[in-house]
Amino acid sequence: MTSTVSRSGAVAADPMVPRTFTLLSTHADTRDTFTLELEPTDGVRLEFRAGQFTMLSAFGIGEVPISISGSPIEDGPLIHTIRSVGGVSNAIVTSAPGTQLGVRGPFGTSWDVTDAKGGDVVIITGGIGLAPLRPAILELLAERDQYNRVVLLYGARTPEDILFGDEMRKWADRLGMTVEVTVDNGPHGWKGRVGFVTQLISRASFDPAQTIALVCGPEVMMRASANELRQRGVPAGKIRLSMERNMKCGIGLCGHCQLREHFICADGPILTYEVLAPLMQKWEL
Ligand SMILES: Cc1cc2nc3c(=O)[nH]c(=O)nc-3n(C[C@H](O)[C@H](O)[C@H](O)COP(=O)(O)OP(=O)(O)OC[C@H]3O[C@@H](n4cnc5c(N)ncnc54)[C@H](O)[C@@H]3O)c2cc1C
Ligand code: FES
Repeated sequence: MTSTVSRSGAVAADPMVPRTFTLLSTHADTRDTFTLELEPTDGVRLEFRAGQFTMLSAFGIGEVPISISGSPIEDGPLIHTIRSVGGVSNAIVTSAPGTQLGVRGPFGTSWDVTDAKGGDVVIITGGIGLAPLRPAILELLAERDQYNRVVLLYGARTPEDILFGDEMRKWADRLGMTVEVTVDNGPHGWKGRVGFVTQLISRASFDPAQTIALVCGPEVMMRASANELRQRGVPAGKIRLSMERNMKCGIGLCGHCQLREHFICADGPILTYEVLAPLMQKWEL
């Protein structure tokens, strides 16, 4: 691995050079989403903060940004949960155990859940968006008594697409989290809720003045969620959204992820609604 020497004399790894990790296992969460466990070949654990991502590569095929979905506070393998949507993500999720993958990072900003200590936390997400939030959920449930109400509102397209269903049940049953799940389309016999996740916000129980909201999902869903949260009275500066953009370098150099003056890889991916609201008209650009 190449390295650079800073003015202080400390040796830092080159953020553009991937470390190699060995794929230990792949678990199918849903028909198109898989959780991978990876072990660093140099034995050095990758430290990260909840919400950060890596640039993950299948050598010879390509590199994509993927959030870390494991616990930031417990030792163990690097965990990524990936939805297979195209060439690179499909190559990664179909790799055989023992395959070496490239990992750069971690990069980006954090959910910073500890800012919510003493107050309520509301988490609103849909589909694969639960994966980038899982580290934040594990972090706050590890200190559950430090927070007041912890509410997770989750939406999936169909019951088959619900991610981490067993784990959500555990969070609700044993760890004092309110979990509400809804699906866009419920087949015959589905006894759960049907409707968009944003419809759950108006009746969720939390104190808007003492709440930090964490939101991750398609941009149209995040926009609607932010509007609902503002209507409930949550300050814009306390609504945190995770943005997705095409990325190449991941470190604020190439401009691929630029959203006006912000480089989403370095200034984000997690930004407050206070920062993002003025850019809303340009979100889809
Ligand atoms: C900061 C950040 C964190 C991310 N974290 C995760 C994560 O934890 N897990 C994960 O699965 N993905 C995550 N993504 C999205 C992931 O990077 C893309 O799915 C991936 O780059 C697709 O590359 P590909 O070559 O497989 O598909 P491509 O060939 O690039 O795309 C194939 C098709 O899928 C569409 N597509 C691309 N991305 C998505 C998407 N996210 N949802 C739906 N359709 C899409 C494209 O428009 C295209 O039509 C994250 C993205 C960012 C920016
Ligand atoms: S991905 Fe290169 S600047 Fe963000």
